[in-house]
Amino acid sequence: MYAEKVLSGMRPTGRLHLGHYHGVLANWVKLQQEYPCLFFVADWHALTTAYDEPGTITDNAYDMVIDWLAAGVDPSQATIFIQSKVPEHAELHLLMSMMTPLGWLERVPTYKDQQEKLEHKDLSTYGFLGYPLLQAADILIYRANLVPVGEDQVPHIEFTREIARRFNHLYGREPGFEEKAREAVKKLGGKRAKLYEELRNRFQEKGDEAALEQAQALLAEAQNLSHGDKERLFGYLEGGGKMILVEPGALLTEASKMPGLDGQKMSKSYGNTITLREDGQSITKKVRTMQTDPQRVRRTDPGDPDKCPVWQFHQIYSDDGVRQWVQEGCRSAGIGCLECKQPVIDGILREQEPMRERARMYEEDPQLVRNIVADGCEKARKLAQETMRDVREAIGVAYD
Ligand code: TRP
Ligand code: SF4
Repeated sequence: MYAEKVLSGMRPTGRLHLGHYHGVLANWVKLQQEYPCLFFVADWHALTTAYDEPGTITDNAYDMVIDWLAAGVDPSQATIFIQSKVPEHAELHLLMSMMTPLGWLERVPTYKDQQEKLEHKDLSTYGFLGYPLLQAADILIYRANLVPVGEDQVPHIEFTREIARRFNHLYGREPGFEEKAREAVKKLGGKRAKLYEELRNRFQEKGDEAALEQAQALLAEAQNLSHGDKERLFGYLEGGGKMILVEPGALLTEASKMPGLDGQKMSKSYGNTITLREDGQSITKKVRTMQTDPQRVRRTDPGDPDKCPVWQFHQIYSDDGVRQWVQEGCRSAGIGCLECKQPVIDGILREQEPMRERARMYEEDPQLVRNIVADGCEKARKLAQETMRDVREAIGVAYD
């Protein structure tokens, strides 16, 4: 119905690492070539759990944007912005909070999970309970239909869909809707108006999905309709009222296969990371001191790659030839572990080279990053303001 649009956000929690790159950023870089994309720093989200550690968010936000740019997120293709610089997110969150049943929020699985996981912290807060609704506002305010997230976030997207549905149900019907819709049809102009009516009938009477799609395409291309009229006609097609908010779908991001240096998932809290833009010497040292197959004590002991985290790195960084060399060399004690690690070190350094290259300019001139973000905020804000105009009008709190 609306053009395809991707939106995703990330909390500014500190420097990003290879896990983020292979899990999330590489996917963003791919998506930006296929769709209009909006990527934002979820700074208010960081506060839902880190409300008692202020002062780090601003620096983390800009550092994180440098990591995105280093990874290849391209501001000429994607819109990069900071959540709190588009205060409309807060307004939509507030307005939607009026119609959000408490039970829906309490039932979101991350609510209890996170409270248990972060038990040292008091998360019986209003903000923490409302966090999925804030996320819903982030998505709905851009009418984004594609939201790349990891598995853990899928319930939030489902929740967002329910909220959008409830919102449209409550506020999508305006007084005199039928009348206004019929007026809007006329504005399409003779031939197109007739075609629209015909397609609408075919869909409503025979459930002809192709007719529905054709009519939606016709509306999408119509230039001379106001935004409100277009909305009405989209709603009128399917028989309901106006569709003000768009139900998004999750674009499931494959879980990263990037292990940490110890073979567990790479995560800052495990202290097993290699950060993006990390110094080459430091990377080399980290890999060289990595744990290997514990059974392989002496150089002459044969090893088993399946019991060795280095092998998991080879799966990401090495080609078939090198992998075969590792398998044979390890099992026959034909190669030493340091020898085995070298192609991994080379692979990581090779991958990071263009990242460090891209980041240099931004590290030297922080104003560049600020300008990119300011541009992105302005673009995002325009979109958000359009939606808010419709939302206020639908709820009945528009005064001009
Ligand atoms: N909640 C997400 C996380 O913790 C971040 C996020 C906030 C987000 N708003 C979003 C992701 C909107 C996708 C869309 O990872
Ligand atoms: Fe691990 Fe390679 Fe050593 Fe085998 S040779 S134990 S795969 S580092």
